[in-house]
Amino acid sequence: MWNLIFNGFFIYVVCLLSITGFFAVGTCASFADESKNENNKVSFHESNDDDDDDDEEDEGEDDDEDEDDEGNHNAGRNCLTSGCHSGSGEEHFSIGGTIYTDADGTDARVGAKIKVIDTNGSTVTLTSNQIGNFYTEKSMKAPFTITASYQGREVKMTSEASGGGCNADGCHADGSSVGRIFISTNDLDLTGTVTESSSGGGSSEISYNGDIKSILDAKCTSCHQSGGAKSDVPLTTYAEVTDTKLVTPGSADSLLIRKLNKDLSEGTMWENLNSTSEYNKIKDWIVVYNAQEYSSSQGSAGAAISDAKVKLSKNGRVKYKTKTDSTGAFVLEKVMAGEYTLRVFKKGYKRHTQSYQMNQSNVASMEITLDKK
Ligand code: HEC
Repeated sequence: MWNLIFNGFFIYVVCLLSITGFFAVGTCASFADESKNENNKVSFHESNDDDDDDDEEDEGEDDDEDEDDEGNHNAGRNCLTSGCHSGSGEEHFSIGGTIYTDADGTDARVGAKIKVIDTNGSTVTLTSNQIGNFYTEKSMKAPFTITASYQGREVKMTSEASGGGCNADGCHADGSSVGRIFISTNDLDLTGTVTESSSGGGSSEISYNGDIKSILDAKCTSCHQSGGAKSDVPLTTYAEVTDTKLVTPGSADSLLIRKLNKDLSEGTMWENLNSTSEYNKIKDWIVVYNAQEYSSSQGSAGAAISDAKVKLSKNGRVKYKTKTDSTGAFVLEKVMAGEYTLRVFKKGYKRHTQSYQMNQSNVASMEITLDKK
């Protein structure tokens, strides 16, 4: 599920840098110049203005100077190309990239926080600048765990990043299959259905392997197997027990039932069984469950659970909640990207709890099953 959830964002592969000398020198020079002018080596804008894109004008003179240059600062390019910010030294970036408002890279996402944790647990939080660029000169060692956030929305990379050149070929380069790094403010709906668990719960099917075999092994096979007193009618395997002579699926008139029915003169095997609950189990298996083998994946579709409460909470606080309708379906509207705890309650059922990462794209409908108490 993890993969599905984060599809739209940051899917990172090894970023091998292959780039021409011309590109390296020609396109990276101005970025390097700017970096020299920066007092702050971690990012252009260290301000905490999470929620205000427009107050960039308040920045000091130095920054205004930078802004003039920023239009040329290679937003979206791979800044860790050799000859640019790779290698070591003052303009060496360990991590650099560009964040946008959508996967196509339409507009820069200004003021997003990019939190990077390296393999040694060393953490740095970068802020995207006017053109969406973020980078750090701090020495960081891959693989990285990366989370981007903006106005309460939080998008995590699906897997660890094996390098710091986020916009490199094969990564979040222009037109790449994984798309740009982005945080959108178009929040998506989370939909799903809640149904009764069809197996594993209190009301699960009766199965040969799960219920019947153990009874027959304990009480019948001493005679009903090769070498036993009734070896011509073996009862040691599913195929033997469901032989058409013994069992007619769905029929109480099956010979296997009649031979165990203490009220029938024919029921000579009752004394070997001598248990009403086991008799009922064998009978139900044949009559109700058609003497079929049920596995967890093959169970009959569970009944819809209406009026179940569905809650998404963050840090212990409920952020979104709703109830399922008569078909067991629910919709949580416009859920901000981020990591939540999803809980589903319904009287008479065991509570369902799971962590849930809300994504910015490809949000799969959830299928939740509740076990009866
Ligand atoms: C002590 C040996 C013995 C045990 C234990 C035993 N049976 Fe039998 N079973 C027989 C004999 C002998 C017959 C044939 C006589 C009869 O039908 O009463 C028979 C007949 C049957 C028949 C009819 C077979 C046919 O083709 O007519 C079924 C069905 C059967 N048993 C089921 C069971 C089941 C189920 C159990 C376990 C609860 C069981 N038996 C336990 C000895 C045994």
